[in-house]
Amino acid sequence: MLITGASAGLGEEMARQFAALGYDLALCARRVDRLEALRAELTGTRVSVKALDVTDDEAVFTVFREFAAEFGRIDRVIVNAGLGKGAPLGTGRPDANRDTARVNFLGALTQMEAACEIFRAQKRGHLVVVSSMSALRGMRKSMTTYAATKAGVAALAEGLRSERIPGVDVSVVYPGYIRSEMNAHVQQRTRFMVDTETGVRAMVAAIEKRRARAYVPAWPWVPIGVAMRVLPLSAVRRMV
Ligand SMILES: NC(=O)c1ccc[n+]([C@@H]2O[C@H](COP(=O)([O-])OP(=O)(O)OC[C@H]3O[C@@H](n4cnc5c(N)ncnc54)[C@H](OP(=O)(O)O)[C@@H]3O)[C@@H](O)[C@H]2O)c1
Repeated sequence: MLITGASAGLGEEMARQFAALGYDLALCARRVDRLEALRAELTGTRVSVKALDVTDDEAVFTVFREFAAEFGRIDRVIVNAGLGKGAPLGTGRPDANRDTARVNFLGALTQMEAACEIFRAQKRGHLVVVSSMSALRGMRKSMTTYAATKAGVAALAEGLRSERIPGVDVSVVYPGYIRSEMNAHVQQRTRFMVDTETGVRAMVAAIEKRRARAYVPAWPWVPIGVAMRVLPLSAVRRMV
């Protein structure tokens, strides 16, 4: 199993929990020292780590192909690397929004290309895309671009599912608020925030079931997801 963004937060904890289930792991991120520390911690399973910046298109293909060659095959790819930067549009921080778009959408697109290349050749595989509850509707201010990137990756995944590539399953996971490096500074969001281990346990269960779409943790995010989809924007903006 290949996980991107495995040096921190949800990716790091998914690596721990999937290792405990006995999976061999191919882990990547930019901070390779943190990946090495994680590898040292994960005993009893095969773990390989590589430095990867997902905005480097060529490197994404190279690293994915190297992992596939090293392990013989890749059964699952989790497109997880992501960035939570952002600013209201037109307030002088187009760089922050473009960085987020580059990592979360273009980077994810490249990872999905590289994963599908491997899965088509193998005629099997499980592609997992980490979206976000914020993908369900347009979000305000510093979340606007982030939410759009997460809607974009979910749409890419749905398109691939619709293609019905032989032997290939496609899952989209929509996390609510799960404690990680990305939101370590966020205090006002603690109402529905769960700790990393709890949140990732819900993600891992959904991924193992190969769910097409999963809002995680199911409580309170399944009912919130229903409400987000049907309520007018004026109500949604007060909910999340
Ligand atoms: N936590 C939540 O509540 C929540 C909710 C909804 C969705 N998500 C999504 O869950 C995923 C994981 O987020 P997280 O909360 O675990 O955040 P995090 O703790 O900040 O971890 C982000 C991971 O992505 C990697 N990353 C960032 N930019 C990268 C780049 N250019 N190339 C390669 N790797 C990169 C980071 O590794 P390096 O810095 O070492 O490269 C790190 O391992 C993201 O896609 C995020 O949008 C999280």
